Amino acid sequence: MTGGGDCPGLNAAIRAVVKHGTMTHGFEVVGIRDAFKGLYECDTMPLPLQAVRGVLDRGGTILGSSNRANPFAYPVVGADGVETVADVSARCAENYRDLGLEGLIVIGGDGTQGIAHRMMALGVDVVGIPKTIDNDLEATEYTIGYQTAVNVAVDAIDRLHSTAESHDRIIICEVMGRYAGWIAMNAGLSAGAEAILIPEMDYDIDKVVGTLRRRHKSDSSFSIIVVAEGAKPRGGDFATKREADATQQAQLGGAGEKLARLIQERTPFDVRTTVLGHVQRGGTPSSFDRLLATRFGVAAVDLVAAGKYGRVAAYRGGEVVDVAMEQAIAKLKRVKPDGPLVLAARALGVELGF
Ligand code: F6P
Repeated sequence: MTGGGDCPGLNAAIRAVVKHGTMTHGFEVVGIRDAFKGLYECDTMPLPLQAVRGVLDRGGTILGSSNRANPFAYPVVGADGVETVADVSARCAENYRDLGLEGLIVIGGDGTQGIAHRMMALGVDVVGIPKTIDNDLEATEYTIGYQTAVNVAVDAIDRLHSTAESHDRIIICEVMGRYAGWIAMNAGLSAGAEAILIPEMDYDIDKVVGTLRRRHKSDSSFSIIVVAEGAKPRGGDFATKREADATQQAQLGGAGEKLARLIQERTPFDVRTTVLGHVQRGGTPSSFDRLLATRFGVAAVDLVAAGKYGRVAAYRGGEVVDVAMEQAIAKLKRVKPDGPLVLAARALGVELGF
């Protein structure tokens, strides 16, 4: 199953699981649709070899996904049309047994892996594959989808540069990443942004504005600022479109607009904002993500074959290894304020707002 937000490379992982599982181990592989919703509703699809022909370069997921399918806090609509939250985990575990499943490969981020880990206590034998464009899982150096998202963001920022220059503008580019600044830092550095603001450190708006003023007085009259959706000003709150509830996490959004307002209140500069949004999650995966997903898929199947459940495939120093699921979900991986990316940014005079 694939759970949580989709990303480029999911189909490459599914393809590897099907091919390696079928051809090497003689497994019968079955897909569960729309994450744990499919397990709750017994909504499955057969995955013979033909089902994964031509999917390697396709974005999205042929299995579908769901953000609101936590069996421990599941949205259930009653006959009166009112939605309540129920624990349907026991039913999901029962369905797992009734479907005759002998192992479950869960391709997901920290939320989905956390749920999978809890399902193990109910007798569901799980192996994890880490995916998320946010790259915020501590267990692995890279998650599926992240590199493609960075490439998309770099391409967009390159394009913003030329139009910012033509019009002497400040262009703010808001990128995804939730509470981690990996996309912002990597894309911002790769595309030569003048300022990069990340969630790991609240930004000082006066410091950012000071840099813009100096820059616009001297050689350049345009600037590109990359802001992570989870970045916030010192003393301020996250910019959100919807707060978290029992069934799903908060929807972030608006950090770029907020920053634009703060700059406009303090300067006469012409400011525009671009929100990259789900463009970063769609479309064809990069070769790195296809390969990573393929290697993770192969590793996950081998873990199932060896009966090594409760493990997550991880990429470390060029090798694919496996780590305990509880370790994979224990802590978010975030940009270190004194780490190599921040040092490189500082060395090039990039404004980081702290
Ligand atoms: O976790 C991946 C991610 O794309 C985040 O970067 C972003 O905050 C979130 O998902 C968006 O979720 P949704 O697709 O529900 O808007």
